[in-house]
Amino acid sequence: MSTSADTEYSAKEVALHKEGTDAWMTIHGEVYDVTKYLHDHPGGADVLVEAAGMDASEAFDNAGHSEDAFEIMEQYRVGKLKGAKKFGAQPVKVTLQPPQEKKVAASRSLAVSKSVAASAIAAGAIGGLCYAASLSNREIIPQAVLQHLKSLAAPIVKGTGSSSQRQGLGFFEGILAASAVFAVAGTMASHEFSKMVDFHANIFANPTHMRMPKSPRPDPLLVRGWLHPSQYQSLPLIEKVLVAPNVYRFVFELPNPQAVAGLPIGQHVSIAGPIDEKTGKASVSRSYTPVSNNSDKGVLELVIRCYPDGQLTGGYLAGLEVGDEVAFRGPKGAMRYRPGLCRKIGMVAGGTGITPMYQLIRAICENERDLTEVSLVYANRSEADMLLRAELEAFARRYPKNLKLHYLVDEAPAHGKWAHGVGRVNKDVMAKHLPAPAADTKIMLCGPPGMVKGASATLVELGFEKAAATSKMSDQVFVF
Ligand SMILES: Cc1cc2nc3c(=O)[nH]c(=O)nc-3n(C[C@H](O)[C@H](O)[C@H](O)COP(=O)(O)OP(=O)(O)OC[C@H]3O[C@@H](n4cnc5c(N)ncnc54)[C@H](O)[C@@H]3O)c2cc1C
Ligand code: HEM
Repeated sequence: MSTSADTEYSAKEVALHKEGTDAWMTIHGEVYDVTKYLHDHPGGADVLVEAAGMDASEAFDNAGHSEDAFEIMEQYRVGKLKGAKKFGAQPVKVTLQPPQEKKVAASRSLAVSKSVAASAIAAGAIGGLCYAASLSNREIIPQAVLQHLKSLAAPIVKGTGSSSQRQGLGFFEGILAASAVFAVAGTMASHEFSKMVDFHANIFANPTHMRMPKSPRPDPLLVRGWLHPSQYQSLPLIEKVLVAPNVYRFVFELPNPQAVAGLPIGQHVSIAGPIDEKTGKASVSRSYTPVSNNSDKGVLELVIRCYPDGQLTGGYLAGLEVGDEVAFRGPKGAMRYRPGLCRKIGMVAGGTGITPMYQLIRAICENERDLTEVSLVYANRSEADMLLRAELEAFARRYPKNLKLHYLVDEAPAHGKWAHGVGRVNKDVMAKHLPAPAADTKIMLCGPPGMVKGASATLVELGFEKAAATSKMSDQVFVF
């Protein structure tokens, strides 16, 4: 079929190309034929095949693609979706930005001072009107309005204690009295208002059909913070501890001790490798789920396994020293956990795949109103490779209704006191240690591709829905 960049296709025509051998998709109103790109896609061929024939805009955005992706896409564009408007998909720019927190503070004080200025102007105007009211013999304002203004001004005039004997207000008293009262009231009102509104977010950026948040105090775990979704910003490393063979706990310092990362529970960050000074681009970027959350002020903490041959972890992350700066962006990913998402969660994690699970477990256990029941199956090669074990066991002890743990290791440890399982994640283990399929139950998977693939297939045998290649929060089986 001959195509040109201006050819228009209907959604039905795009839907005809939904195979691994013929994969088209719509992303923000543009139509792409990605058949030849499937096996080069860094996010994997599966996600593209899964999205073939459909509108993949949301999934594409969730992956937080960079400028590189936008450049690559151009060569696969075959036309436009009929009737589509121009959308503003934003590539992620690899640039280093000054810390956000300063901007927040600046914009907050700017907003407050704007309100104060507005109050002062209003006060001046009312003061002027009071003065006008005092000159009731002049014919510039209708008498009814003057009477009303006088009655409004009366309490202020009384407050000054002297003017009541006079025929009217003097110019300066009118200005001063009204200014004082309205400036104080205006400042108090703007202060209260500034506490209710998240000035980091541009409230006017919300489409008109969107409702403003119901609660003036948003869930602290979901508030915005230092992270920026489309720009890399750097943080200094302040601590690096070896917690298991080749696994480090990295602690990075946020710009001030009260700053929060701004990462919703379940989402992750992207770390960019060293940035080439000539091109301004990072050589490689990878995803990581921090183990800290918004209740940890001033720090961003990660647990990362460093592979000797790993492009990002091998040379770069393993070699980091305290004081070195690392570039982050986020939040990324389709999971934004909130209490009430479901009643039961079964989790299967392998190795460092524990980090997103730990995020959720921590948020659930630390919220006394969250009654979600979590059953975790955590697989590792050996006991020594297990991550965050002490933290998980502390939660399971303290919140037995919220968390049940089952570990798996490749071989039983020599000490002979191993009370958990041995071997791979299989159907028996999953049937015994995960909740059964139900409308209010979700399963979450994270770990090496082999484990995730095997567990997904077993879940179908157990009666769960098939996991999609790119998960959505509404899915019964969610793969991080
Ligand atoms: C949403 C998400 C969250 C993640 N969170 C974390 C986290 O908190 N901590 C963490 O350590 N990692 C995490 N990862 C994995 C991480 O993104 C990288 O894949 C990993 O650090 C390897 O990157 P690399 O460039 O060093 O290795 P690559 O150059 O990509 O691979 C080098 C070698 O490492 C091995 N390898 C790579 N990844 C894995 C793996 N997952 N299992 C087994 N072998 C592997 C392969 O054998 C490969 O040959 C997460 C991944 C995703 C998608
Ligand atoms: C023509 C279309 C696409 C192109 C050219 C493309 C390109 C890329 C590139 C270059 C990356 C590496 C990271 C980056 O530089 O951004 C990437 C990562 C990824 N892509 Fe795509 N992509 C396309 C469509 C999609 C779609 C439709 C989806 C989802 C359905 C998707 C999901 C992902 C995921 C999950 C990652 C991994 C992100 C991470 O590091 O966490 N991509 N893609």
